[in-house]
Amino acid sequence: MIEALNAIRDEALRRLAELGADAPEAEIRDLRARYLGREGSLSVAMRGMGKLPASERPEIGRLANEVKGAIEEAFETAQGALAARERAQSLASERVDVTLPGRTPAIGRVHPLTQTAERATEIFVGLGFSVAEGPDVETDYNNFEALNIPRDHPARELQDTFYVADDIVLRTHTSPVQIRTMKQRKPPLRVIAPGTVYRRDDDVTHSPMFLQIEGFMVDEKVTFGDLKGVLTAFLQEMFDKGTRLRFRPSYFPFVEPGAEVDIECFLCRAKGCRVCKGTAWIEILGAGMIHPEVFRAVGYDPAACSGFAFGMGIERIAMLRYGVNDIRHFYENDQNFLEQF
Ligand code: DAH
Repeated sequence: MIEALNAIRDEALRRLAELGADAPEAEIRDLRARYLGREGSLSVAMRGMGKLPASERPEIGRLANEVKGAIEEAFETAQGALAARERAQSLASERVDVTLPGRTPAIGRVHPLTQTAERATEIFVGLGFSVAEGPDVETDYNNFEALNIPRDHPARELQDTFYVADDIVLRTHTSPVQIRTMKQRKPPLRVIAPGTVYRRDDDVTHSPMFLQIEGFMVDEKVTFGDLKGVLTAFLQEMFDKGTRLRFRPSYFPFVEPGAEVDIECFLCRAKGCRVCKGTAWIEILGAGMIHPEVFRAVGYDPAACSGFAFGMGIERIAMLRYGVNDIRHFYENDQNFLEQF
């Protein structure tokens, strides 16, 4: 047994030496397995130790461990030398090009609708307005009743409503923020309320979920002239300094008088085009003087105060601003579209 173990060691070290300094890694690994692997000759010999008389086992065992240690060390040295050679070689031949431009990670950007809402908010803040918010899930009372739209009123059908419960709706417009704000605070008020609204509507220019900005001003002697001044300043800032406005009489239950406001088509310079449908004017928002019934609903005395209100769709403004012809582009999360803004 002693001779057998010594012979295994000598053979292993000799054959490793014969492989030489340039032997490839795989060959060294194969040779190592031949002695130290599970079926390697040293492993097989060591398994045979069980058959030895008990008195010989300690000495043979010590020798077997010595032989194993010597073989392992020799292979480790050979593999270490090989790794060092390869490292030196790759350092000598490979070059890192430090002039190569880095890879910029894609960073996000603000969504065009958010950009438009932020720009609008900025302009109104510049005009002295502050920002208020209300919940998307609103009471029927705040969304309709308090805004002078009673239950049997035909105007309810103008806004196809999502009902959450009998008296709870997804707000169909931002106008209920007028009610909430006026109940909480006292005039003078100059407030805008941007937010999401919901209607059962879905086509090229309508989405069931869209964004509006509401605005209103209440004080002792607010006039229609103030409304015109504020909207003119806003729309000229939003679109074009020279933009002219047109007020057409219209009906909204919560204002009297009420108007729809158009801007002169800035795309064709009022000559008539596809966007203004040949009329030279583009409808942009609804507005009017706050109805006495609305003031009564929030506990204000309609004889002692007056105010104007307006509401507009953010998508519509963004479509005009950026020349987008289908509202659905805004909601598809298509990077090719979004990266343009
Ligand atoms: N709430 C109206 C709508 O969504 C828009 C509107 C019209 C708001 C006239 C107003 C207003 O404040 O005075 O259709």
